[in-house]
Order: sequence, then structure tokens, then C-alpha cells
Amino acid sequence: MNTVECIKTRRSVRRYTEEVISKELMDSIIDLARMAPTWKNTQTIRYVVVQDKAIIDKIKEDCLLGFEGNIKTLAQCNTLVVLSQINGRCGYERDGFFTTSKGAGWEMFDAGIAAQTFCLAAHEMGVGSCILGIFDDAKVGELIELPEGQTVTALIPVGIPKFIPDPTPRKEVEELVSYK
Ligand SMILES: Cc1cc2nc3c(=O)[nH]c(=O)nc-3n(C[C@H](O)[C@H](O)[C@H](O)COP(=O)(O)O)c2cc1C
Repeated sequence: MNTVECIKTRRSVRRYTEEVISKELMDSIIDLARMAPTWKNTQTIRYVVVQDKAIIDKIKEDCLLGFEGNIKTLAQCNTLVVLSQINGRCGYERDGFFTTSKGAGWEMFDAGIAAQTFCLAAHEMGVGSCILGIFDDAKVGELIELPEGQTVTALIPVGIPKFIPDPTPRKEVEELVSYK
């Protein structure tokens, strides 16, 4: 698959077969995700691969803020990647002050690039994924015993797609771009 095809055919996949994603396959996806650019090459993004059904169920029951869509997605996924970040480095100077007016906003920026790189790498390897933003990050962090000084940034359930979802609409280029 070339880059154009990979970008164009990636979908948010929310239904998966029962096939379990092997550690080797997960590692090879993360091997590509780690190539994502980061603030001053700080590389603060971390990946916790949860395959313990009891933990996924607990996240499903207690951490999804009652959002039905995500509850259904987690109900039938057997691999959940919890993306986290090490706090206080990305966007900061060594003296602890923010470098720019965006402050710690760059932490989510790096997490976003990493998440999309992860999803494209997964797609290339036949693995479907969906970035989830509607969840309680503190509760998820507690449940997976996230190390001190890290924050959960996104949940990414993964699996072999049960079917390929239709493409979702996009705005036309003319609506998005301006030239000066
Ligand atoms: C930051 C972010 C948060 C998202 N949160 C959720 C979510 O909580 N639940 C969900 O089902 N999809 C979620 N999505 C997936 C979007 O709904 C999806 O990307 C969008 O509808 C476009 O569809 P596509 O990814 O198939 O092109 C999220 C995507 C992003 C980038």
C-alpha cells in the first residue's frame, strides 16, 4: 500500500473479528508510530496495550462517561491501546516555563500526530483502529496503574475489521484553504 492509498482508505473501525492481535504485530505497529515527529524530539508518548478482558470491561463500565457508541465499541474489542504522555516536557523549556503561548497544548498535538501515525501504520498491516476521545482520563489512568507523571491522552481500540466502514464526508479543498 502506498502512502496516498493508506491515507485515503483508512477508516475509523469500531467492529472487529475475534482474532487477537499478536504482540509481534502490535510491536511492529508501534515501531512505526514512534517515528512520528515530536516537540524538540521529546518523544513523550507511551502506549499501554490492554488485552486483559477484565480491564477492558472495567474501562467500558466505569470510564466512558455513559457514551453509548464507545461502550458498544469496547464491548467487542479484545485489544485496547491506551495512549499516554509524560507530563511537563512537551511545550516546556528546561526551566519549567512554557516556550509558547500554546503552553502545554503541544502535548496533545504530539499525541495527535502519534495517534494518526499509529492508525495509519495499523491500517497498512490490516489492523483497524479508532481514536476515542470520550472517556475519563483520570479513571482510565488509575485502572491501568499508569506511572506517576503521565496522563492518558486517547483510547485506541484495535482489531481485524469485521467490515470496512463507508468513507465519511470531507469538506472540499477550496473550503479549507486560503492563499495570500
Ligand atoms: C480526537 C478524536 C476523538 C475521537 N473520538 C471518538 C470517540 O470518542 N468515539 C468514536 O466512535 N469515534 C471517535 N473519533 C473518530 C471520528 O468520529 C472519526 O475520525 C470521524 O468521524 C471521521 O471518520 P473516519 O476516521 O472513518 O474518516 C475521534 C476522532 C478523533 C480524531
